[in-house]
Amino acid sequence: MDYKQVPERWTTRVRKPSRKGSMADVPQDIVTEIASLERLFTVDQAKLKEITEQFIVELKDGLEGNGNIPMNPSWVMNMPDGEETGRFLALDMGGTNLRVCEIELVDEKGEFDIIQSKYRMPEELKSGNAEELWDYTADCIEQFIEYHHEDDKDNLETLPLGFTFSYPATQEYIDHGVLQRWTKGWAVEGVEGHDVVPQLEKALRERKLPVTIAALVNDTTGTLVASAYTDTAMRLGCIFGTGCNGAYVEHCGNIPKLKHMNLPDDMEMLINCEYGAFNSKGTTPVLPKTPYDVMIDETSPRPGQQAYEKMISGLYLGEIFRLTMLDLHDNKKLIFQNQDLAQFRTPFCLDSSFLSFIEEDPFENLSETQDMFNDKFQVKANKAELELCRRLAELIGTRAARLCACGIAAICKMKGFDSCHVGADGSVFNKYPHFKQRIAKALRDILDWTGRKDPIVLSASEDGSGVGAALIAALTVKRIKEGNTNGIQDVKKFGL
Ligand code: GLC
Repeated sequence: MDYKQVPERWTTRVRKPSRKGSMADVPQDIVTEIASLERLFTVDQAKLKEITEQFIVELKDGLEGNGNIPMNPSWVMNMPDGEETGRFLALDMGGTNLRVCEIELVDEKGEFDIIQSKYRMPEELKSGNAEELWDYTADCIEQFIEYHHEDDKDNLETLPLGFTFSYPATQEYIDHGVLQRWTKGWAVEGVEGHDVVPQLEKALRERKLPVTIAALVNDTTGTLVASAYTDTAMRLGCIFGTGCNGAYVEHCGNIPKLKHMNLPDDMEMLINCEYGAFNSKGTTPVLPKTPYDVMIDETSPRPGQQAYEKMISGLYLGEIFRLTMLDLHDNKKLIFQNQDLAQFRTPFCLDSSFLSFIEEDPFENLSETQDMFNDKFQVKANKAELELCRRLAELIGTRAARLCACGIAAICKMKGFDSCHVGADGSVFNKYPHFKQRIAKALRDILDWTGRKDPIVLSASEDGSGVGAALIAALTVKRIKEGNTNGIQDVKKFGL
């Protein structure tokens, strides 16, 4: 197989403000269409509130073990206090790349050293079989150790690994996780319904690697723990990227589906909500789906699943745009008349960075957008069509951010958090223009804040899938040492 190390790129960019736009000279039929798209994609305050209330119902159902939102107990049972120390590995299997990190939590409170390598995830692996997936993953870890421990690899102590596996998994223990179903377009055979830990462990054993899987971690729980490492006001961890999800701290007494375990009511448990599944098939429908959302769902590998995620996450935003534009061309005969849109017809040929690009076009005449349509799709867009594109991108991006706010507001309302910090990560949160501000505005709408300072604030998290996963491995080791072995399957392998 082809192992390409992806070079690290650290870039900072100053965001230019989006242009205001002008509808002067735009023909009436396009102006009318824009108004109709505005009606279709706008989610007003009343609707946001209605969605949030239904969200609370479904979150609670999930804690009971019913409904669509899995509300998976993660067996992460405490938050870091900044005093954690030790050396750990972290493996991040998020989607596009595979990342291996070695993290040293050092003596200075809240500090760490990190070395990391990224490996490209070959596209064919995502629809291959389990063995290929775990072989490739273990090969990457082996390569990492050989590269970074050339001199001491033969007498390396066994390193605890925090494995960030960003898919819904049922965890009866922290070092265990049965994949419920693939999300985000993955479809590797032989993993659904199986515990992924022994599958990876077998591949690690075959290579005799000095690694023990200490914790299986979701990216949201990793985000929450990593953010809480340096900020004690953190209550939620959220991902707005290829997928969309959140995690928070619950008390075991509020988790009816764990009642049989007789855990103390006030014991803490991080819950990986998997709320991308909100309002999927079988619940009272409240999501304001457009015909384009319905098409995405119906043609997806998993119709009826991840209903909320399909309207807001990075994997789908470009596709919503593409389907809308095609409808305006093919059926309404409004745009790109007499042009061949062949290049535009491939499903998922535009990702969310395309919409970011349009929203960020700094030129009044949208010339960068015009060039991009021409270069990428051989389509010539005129002034009116460009104005429509810009408005549509803005509507889709704004709708996504406003709907994202409902999940956050629902958890905060359910838990009675009047003020807190929310650690957020993911490509859409970090790169999509105005995303953070749009979520903040929607939270104000839902929670009726009028003051100058917002009580619930989102901030870019520390690296949840790397540092967060290592911290969770550290917290597990610490918990065993303290005698709390609840939710740990194989205490012996920790060698403590
Ligand atoms: C999908 C996954 C979930 C993950 C999210 C963000 O919703 O099911 O586990 O947290 O994407 O990556």
